[in-house]
Amino acid sequence: MSHAEDHEGTRRDFLYYVTGGAGVVATGAAVWPLVNQMNPSADVQALSSIRVDVSDIEVGTQITVKWLGKPVFIRRRTQEEIDEARAVELSELPDQEDRNANKPGLDAADENRSLDEAGEWLVMMGVCTHLGCVPLGDGAGDFHGWFCPCHGSHYDTSGRIRKGPAPENLFVPVAEFVDETTIKLG
Ligand code: FES
Repeated sequence: MSHAEDHEGTRRDFLYYVTGGAGVVATGAAVWPLVNQMNPSADVQALSSIRVDVSDIEVGTQITVKWLGKPVFIRRRTQEEIDEARAVELSELPDQEDRNANKPGLDAADENRSLDEAGEWLVMMGVCTHLGCVPLGDGAGDFHGWFCPCHGSHYDTSGRIRKGPAPENLFVPVAEFVDETTIKLG
């Protein structure tokens, strides 16, 4: 489908394309202004849907894109990360809900959080569920996933809270593959 056709077909959405490194924001722990989350400006609200080219993401790496004024982590997991996430008993999880807008109300099994069935792709809001910091990624923390140093929240390779004050798993936003190398957020 051409860009023009696609755009025509989704007139209500303002789409833009994040390709290669463009639009990727630095990963790191930082206080994400809460006002930004609660009161996005009109131009931010207009970006209800974006498409991200993920063809350059290597296995075992992630990118962070900005969407609706917030960071979104897109990680291409290794088999080891997937296996680790899927070996966890639900009873070990402080938050038992999948927190996945694509599959609301299911349990927090990794299969209910990954974007694809095989579990290679994990898309999550990069916002700590404690007070909104941006967690560190790339295997950080005691559970090899993400770590929020603000108050010490550890997330596993599925982005589920395992230790620390954060009450919920990292939120999975509405996302889908629209072709083999493009993820649409929103
Ligand atoms: S904001 Fe992440 S642990 Fe407090």
